[in-house]
Amino acid sequence: MDTSKVFSSLSAIKLTVTAKEGISVKADILALPVTTKDLKNEAGKALKSLGIDESALGDFKGSAGDLSIFYRSASARGASRIALLGLGEGKTNDDFRKAAESLARKAVDMHLGIVAVDCSELTAWSKHSKRNPEYLAGLLVEGVHYGAYRFDRLKSGKLEKEKKKEADKPKTITELVLAGCGDHSAEIEKGAAAGVIVGTCQNMTRDLINLPGNHLSAEDLAEAAREAGKRGGFDVTVFDKKRITELGMGGLLAVNKGSDEPPTFTILDYQPKGKSEKTVALVGKGVTFDSGGISIKPAQGMDEMKSDMSGAACVIGTIEAVARLGMPVRVIGIIPATDNMPSGTALKPGDVITTMSGITVDVGNTDAEGRLILADALTYARKEFDPEVIIDLATLTGACVVALGHQAAGLFSNDDDLADALFKSGQATGEKVWRMPLWDEYDELIKSDVADVSNTGGRWGGAVTAAKFLEKFIDGHKCWAHVDIAGPAFLAKGGGKEPGGTGFGVRLLVDLLKGWV
Ligand code: BES
Ligand code: MN
Ligand code: ZN
Repeated sequence: MDTSKVFSSLSAIKLTVTAKEGISVKADILALPVTTKDLKNEAGKALKSLGIDESALGDFKGSAGDLSIFYRSASARGASRIALLGLGEGKTNDDFRKAAESLARKAVDMHLGIVAVDCSELTAWSKHSKRNPEYLAGLLVEGVHYGAYRFDRLKSGKLEKEKKKEADKPKTITELVLAGCGDHSAEIEKGAAAGVIVGTCQNMTRDLINLPGNHLSAEDLAEAAREAGKRGGFDVTVFDKKRITELGMGGLLAVNKGSDEPPTFTILDYQPKGKSEKTVALVGKGVTFDSGGISIKPAQGMDEMKSDMSGAACVIGTIEAVARLGMPVRVIGIIPATDNMPSGTALKPGDVITTMSGITVDVGNTDAEGRLILADALTYARKEFDPEVIIDLATLTGACVVALGHQAAGLFSNDDDLADALFKSGQATGEKVWRMPLWDEYDELIKSDVADVSNTGGRWGGAVTAAKFLEKFIDGHKCWAHVDIAGPAFLAKGGGKEPGGTGFGVRLLVDLLKGWV
């Protein structure tokens, strides 16, 4: 392990909240957010007051995220670029988040360092959306962080000679100014500060996902958790291969057999200062690269399997956010990590292994490795902490991607209230989950002739049989949810959105935990 590396860098955007009106703020661009309703009455007037002819409105419709940029003469007071920014109807969280993301994405593309947003209509937006100014400010700031994200830390820039001129321009947004905040400044500052935390933690999660296998081993992932622990002020313990062997974590060791790099098992433990409302364990799949092992995957798309530790990355990002927000809930993170490689020493199809629980598993397919390492993590969580709630996140099955696409995660839970709460948080944060069944009929499919259970259930219902497999290892726990994030965790290039790791789950879980405090 190269400890001189920093795996989880955090670049927060400097935040300024001011009562000053937008146009008197020094900025590279000033955004005037408008709802479709305001568009008719206000947008033209606003442009006119800035010396821009209202006919310039042109085809601007004001849908959420629509952006139209106007230029003013350099001699005019304030920003020389004015952006009309569509808020859509300005009713839902999505409207505000989309607008903020789109503004930030554009600003980064244009190399604009200081971005100002005119918030003088916040009272109206607040009434209309039934969300308080603090909440709306949080949404905007979170959205700006999300939209400003680029994964460029592995670019040396050495081949970009012709773009020399661009080299001095800002690579990302350096400052976000929320202007025209009037009497709301205090509330807005509070919401915005929370938005900075969630936004940076989610971007840190995306960085970990985007780091390829040769830049992020199991030991590196553990180191990233330690770094998060230092920033958030919570305990991080890492078990090495020796300790993992002593504990009898047969699932994790089996998957690691083909690897040249040792496994790690990391425990993050955030304990709030005062009384904690609940103890929640978050378990995240940390496969740093999934080749499939001996049951090797086809070459096409195999590179995307660097993202097979998205669940783990989400757990790290969530706990750092919860800690830095100082939320009164104890959250334990558990991360089993290894890569899944073929070699002469690798796990073989047909092998029977014994997990930490004592349950034996017939390994029908070495590519169903996630459930093997999660089995031990679930056993450990239950035994060591006996938390009130257990939630695991994993890029577990291609079948779940077939079922729900990249738009939503599969949700499996034995507790209706937990499932409902997760569903609601999904709607609020745009990180949507959709419930799938855990009916016992599916147990038939993972029966083994030679061991207690098989790790493969055949072609049909693959996301459900994977969940049924995990259920065997919660030892009768009554409040468990499994979230299969194989679809939404990582986006391929060309979908119109920023490609790569999405950090799916950080907003979802922070929102869920907020609901309990
Ligand atoms: N990491 C994969 C699942 C995956 C697929 C994640 C696509 C993201 C995108 C997992 O380890 C896997 O290989 N699952 C197998 C299970 C099968 C062998 C029972 C699958 O889904 O094909
Ligand atoms: Mn696999
Ligand atoms: Zn996998």
